[in-house]
Amino acid sequence: MVETATEIAVSCAGVTKAYGSGQARVTALRGIDLEVRQGELLMLVGPSGCGKTTLISVIAGILDHDDGECRVFGEDLKAMSGSRRTRFRGDNIGFVFQQFNLIPTLTIAENVAVPLLIAGVSRREAVGRGRDLLNRVAIGDRWTALPSKLSGGQQQRVAIARALVHNPRLIVCDEPTSSLDHETGHKVMELMREVAAGDGRSLVVVTHDSRIFEFADRIARMDDGRIVSVTEKA
Ligand SMILES: Nc1ncnc2c1ncn2[C@@H]1O[C@H](COP(=O)(O)OP(=O)(O)OP(=O)(O)O)[C@@H](O)[C@H]1O
Ligand SMILES: [Mg+2]
Repeated sequence: MVETATEIAVSCAGVTKAYGSGQARVTALRGIDLEVRQGELLMLVGPSGCGKTTLISVIAGILDHDDGECRVFGEDLKAMSGSRRTRFRGDNIGFVFQQFNLIPTLTIAENVAVPLLIAGVSRREAVGRGRDLLNRVAIGDRWTALPSKLSGGQQQRVAIARALVHNPRLIVCDEPTSSLDHETGHKVMELMREVAAGDGRSLVVVTHDSRIFEFADRIARMDDGRIVSVTEKA
């Protein structure tokens, strides 16, 4: 039998990124080589300021890198036109921001429904699916609340539900359990594992939280703009 190679969801080679110019120039990524496999949960860890958010923003097509190459499902997002890239991201990528980025004037069910509404799903169905996912992250009873009426941990779970609702093939999360207690953090990670293992979706999870390392397939460590090691979990 012919062995099929592991499918690669994301491949970064020599990716660099600097912010600003002149004296204010800050180099955030110094040549990143990294592959994310299909169906894996890869955790990205490292000290504050080492470039984790910058790297996952490049991977998700939110930020353009300077040099090197980054491909997502074989596509070079940097080379895409704005509208094509927006569509590609809408179809394929879910993002949980470090600061949640919920829309303050929408209820939490509507917030979760946003990726579906953008994809053209009817409002009724989109909000219904939003509610279902809120149930799965254990805040279904608050679905008509505005984000400002929720605790930080509850807002974080809304942001996670929003990243999962349109079944993206790649889910990128920036510190998804930072505001959650141990038990809720575990529940959220179990949901994410289920999503990854279930249908071959890939997750990249930035975290400082060693309590959730057990959910990783591999852990990539970053320091000062570089990947310094990638360890396989048993
Ligand atoms: N918009 C920006 N303008 C200028 N410099 C930036 C910007 N965003 C990040 N940086 C700098 O780039 C470097 C990497 O930042 P990044 O946010 O990627 O780090 P991080 O690993 O996510 O840190 P944390 O764990 O604190 O979230 C830091 O030195 C930071 O100050
Ligand atoms: Mg960050």
